[in-house]
Amino acid sequence: MPADFVKVAQTSDLAPGQMKQVQAGDELILLINLDGEYFAMDDICSHAYAPLTQGDLNGEEVECPLHGSAFNVKTGEVLCPPANQSLETFAVRIEGDDILVGPKG
Ligand code: FES
Repeated sequence: MPADFVKVAQTSDLAPGQMKQVQAGDELILLINLDGEYFAMDDICSHAYAPLTQGDLNGEEVECPLHGSAFNVKTGEVLCPPANQSLETFAVRIEGDDILVGPKG
């Protein structure tokens, strides 16, 4: 877990409705631009090993590419099985054109 905020991308890297995998420390993080607001959560599905960045983003929901579980990108909450564990979210901060992610929660 990143101990402090670290730069992971620039705002120009993600148009609204787009997502991108970024790394902070050991964490693979799913970064999402939701109508100009940025959110970050674990990129690896809690069911098995699949990067959610390869799934589909439908509004606030991202669907896992492997077995179709869905998660709320704002809260990490699992919305449909087979996954039954929610994902951790990360604090996001914008500084100029930089996107920084910080501690979980
Ligand atoms: S790996 Fe995501 S639902 Fe199975």
